[in-house]
Amino acid sequence: MSRQWIAILDYGSQYTQLIARRIREMEVYSEIIPWDSRAEALRKNPPAGIILSGGPCSVFDRDAPDIDADILRMGVPVLGICYGMQLLSYTLGGHVAPGAEREYGKMPIEILPGNPLFNGIPSTITVWMSHGDRVEAIPANFSRGAVSATCPFAAMFNNEQRIYALQFHPEVVHTQYGTQILRNFVFGICGGRADWKLSSWVEDTVAQLKDRIGDDEVVLGLSGGVDSSVVAVLLNRAIGRRLHCIFVDNGLLRWREAEQVEEMFHKNLGLDLTVVHAAERFYGALKGLENPEDKRKAIGALFIQVFAEEARRFRHCRYLGQGTIYPDVIESRSPRKGPSQTIKSHHNVGGLPEDLKFELVEPLRELFKDEVRGVGRVLGMADELLDRQPFPGPGLGVRVVGEVTEEKVKLLQQADLRVQEEIRKLPDYKMIWQTFAVLLPVRSVGVMGDQRTYEYTCAIRSVNSIDAMTADWTRLPYDVMARMSNRIINEVRGINRVVYDISSKPPATIEWE
Ligand code: XMP
Repeated sequence: MSRQWIAILDYGSQYTQLIARRIREMEVYSEIIPWDSRAEALRKNPPAGIILSGGPCSVFDRDAPDIDADILRMGVPVLGICYGMQLLSYTLGGHVAPGAEREYGKMPIEILPGNPLFNGIPSTITVWMSHGDRVEAIPANFSRGAVSATCPFAAMFNNEQRIYALQFHPEVVHTQYGTQILRNFVFGICGGRADWKLSSWVEDTVAQLKDRIGDDEVVLGLSGGVDSSVVAVLLNRAIGRRLHCIFVDNGLLRWREAEQVEEMFHKNLGLDLTVVHAAERFYGALKGLENPEDKRKAIGALFIQVFAEEARRFRHCRYLGQGTIYPDVIESRSPRKGPSQTIKSHHNVGGLPEDLKFELVEPLRELFKDEVRGVGRVLGMADELLDRQPFPGPGLGVRVVGEVTEEKVKLLQQADLRVQEEIRKLPDYKMIWQTFAVLLPVRSVGVMGDQRTYEYTCAIRSVNSIDAMTADWTRLPYDVMARMSNRIINEVRGINRVVYDISSKPPATIEWE
């Protein structure tokens, strides 16, 4: 029996991925597909339900994304959210009016009877609205499902055709009973089966990897981050020592990170691991560079070079393993329009030279980050490794502001170590997206004992975020900040001042460079 699934047509909302995650949390598999998918393609493996996401466009825009009308005739239940509702209304003969102003924020709505989406939900709830246009008249044969002070049709439905729509966002936490509404759609209306279990995913994937790779071999760039680590353990489970891992120590890692990776993957897990000690080369390449983009490019280019040199030893391998995860896949085909600007050139494993042609193995392509962690747990990996915060590819190279030297990296490693130790003592430490230290190229005067000092400044950055696209600075308890500051100033020779970064993204970014 093929896996049951819910399709989400992506109209570009920042919440599209959240819809898919919410449904997978119910153990029902869901996939995001482009808005211009055709009914014909969907019929090959029909979903149990189809959700139209929200999106930034107006149905009145010249190139507004629409829907293949045949999809609405497939007999599969449909749920339109926000733009999805406006599009359904517009397509099926209702009336959408351009909004003079955006309605944004929490809004009470009154629920009207007869709509199975709202089964078991109180008659008044607060929901999250974020829309410009609004539906002013619903299509014939539809009923009004909910109403708010500003929105005459906060929801609409047609039980016969099994088409449902919401002007608000049930997927965000600000909507009361939002999960219940989605559950009603998935289980009540679509007859969803909770059969998306990570334990069976691991078993199936290991079997598929064995099957696909056969007697061939795989080379994998291990970064020490969650994704590549989980891929390594998964592939090791499937093909054992025919997996060859390469870890580049670029001298820009956290304190003792290279040793920890070696200990964990080589000594504890028995993986075939080569650690390439290339710190000196990276410091050399960074000498004299102050501009952040120049630094990023230098680190990225040298990384590829070093990795390729080592990978040549494994030229006989047919495959290159990669830790690509679902958000990478979706973002690379984002439907958002308009030119996008490079804010920072991100580097992970970019293009390898021509003579190194591998086929890619990307077993995590269909998983969200929290599912990758779940897979790691099924594989018996330590929480300590799975709950690691994101760490940029160029590492401390972008956290030593200005020119990078070995001496400054060592100073920053010591400061960051203390920040990590202290933040881990917070009971809700896992709720924080990232916390780290940054070394500023600013020296200031201080006094220690009877001595005047003139030393570096360290900034602490801690942010809360859902997806790193936006972030707010963490309101850390004062005593935590105090301990970090005291420990850095007292224990790290060379830093005599600590400041706390209170900028949000946007307009600031999470990393300083
Ligand atoms: P920014 O600084 O752009 O960072 O707000 C957003 C998130 O991305 C991480 N980051 C990187 N991750 N390679 C990566 O894999 C990179 O080059 C890179 N630069 C930034 C950053 O730590 C934050 O979580």
